[in-house]
Amino acid sequence: MSNFKTLDDLGDITGKVVLLRVDLNLPMKDGSATDVTRVEAVKPTILELADKGAKVLLLAHFGRPKGQRHSTMSTSFVQGDVEKVLGKEIMFIPEVMGPVVEQSIGILRDGDIGLLDNVRFWPGEEANDPEFAKGIAAHGDLYVNDAFSAAHRAHASTEGLAHYLPAYAGRAMEAELKALDAALGNPEAPVAAIVGGAKVSTKLDVLHNLVGRVQHLVIGGGMANTFLAAKGVDVGKSLCEHDLADTANRIMDEADHAGCTVHLPYDVVVAKEFAANPPSLRTSNVHEVAKDEMILDIGPLAVEALGDVLKTCRTLVWNGPLGAFETEPFDAATVSLAKTAAALTQDGSLISVAGGGDTVAALAQAGVKDDFTFVSTAGGAFLEWMEGKDLPGVAALTA
Ligand code: 3PG
Repeated sequence: MSNFKTLDDLGDITGKVVLLRVDLNLPMKDGSATDVTRVEAVKPTILELADKGAKVLLLAHFGRPKGQRHSTMSTSFVQGDVEKVLGKEIMFIPEVMGPVVEQSIGILRDGDIGLLDNVRFWPGEEANDPEFAKGIAAHGDLYVNDAFSAAHRAHASTEGLAHYLPAYAGRAMEAELKALDAALGNPEAPVAAIVGGAKVSTKLDVLHNLVGRVQHLVIGGGMANTFLAAKGVDVGKSLCEHDLADTANRIMDEADHAGCTVHLPYDVVVAKEFAANPPSLRTSNVHEVAKDEMILDIGPLAVEALGDVLKTCRTLVWNGPLGAFETEPFDAATVSLAKTAAALTQDGSLISVAGGGDTVAALAQAGVKDDFTFVSTAGGAFLEWMEGKDLPGVAALTA
């Protein structure tokens, strides 16, 4: 992994203004956040900078206002949630540059925290306009990026600022980059990847990248149906992208050449309707799925076999559930394999890294979120990283 500076490299920052990019794009209901994991993730960085005597200006986006002020997308909506998590009052500043920001900095004492308004209210943010970035940078002495989950965006606050101020990775970014490097950058082999989710079409680049990097590729979720169908299996009325059969076959060929074993289930859980505990529920060999049945999870024999595969591996990277996990009992395979991975991690034999919204929810449902080596809260950024892409926000820190 290329080198990047961390908070350990900061000298005396007493009285310095730190522009700290965080991800406060929180899921909201009735005016408050339903999940503050992202605030908890950046709390150590905010408090460390404040404790060292800096004036900390939080810079964040909230929703997609497309370069205009939007009354429902001000970061002031998350001010209360941030204060609650930090256990500290913060000052809301309804601009990102100019005299209001300058005056506010004058009011803040060393160790105080300000929250700038939604940086996406200005078109220069998404355009990564150098003049816009310079305008923000003019208020700060240092730039710290702690928003890995927005690092796939080449925006002024995620990428541009690093060109105009000394740039550092915050603690959450540092942990994320170390974990990702351990999972796919310089992993201990053998490496297994579990890729699930509904559609192959959204994860084609992920699969192409992984077959050359991992020794075991486990395909689950609706995606597995497309691969099974490509192999000539009749998947009944399962969710399946039949038009991607050639692509699926190509990925399996690439895997063959690269020495990567692709694992598809040989038993599956099927039902005639997609509902919780339907009367038509049964477990079937993949070759015996009826025309009017759909595959909704992988079966217990496949789960056991996959558990055995994980026992031979040193590293696991996981994105996407194995079945329709929001509906019982189609969470069984995901929960069971997550527990096996967690136990192997706790025994010290497996480094396990998981990411993506659905995956985090599935691990939480299995009660093992804290037992994995690292769980990333990033969605799009995690996927782009699994695709092998350079993330602009990370590249700017390592340049
Ligand atoms: C996210 O919520 O995944 C990040 O904050 C990125 O948001 P975006 O997809 O609107 O860029």
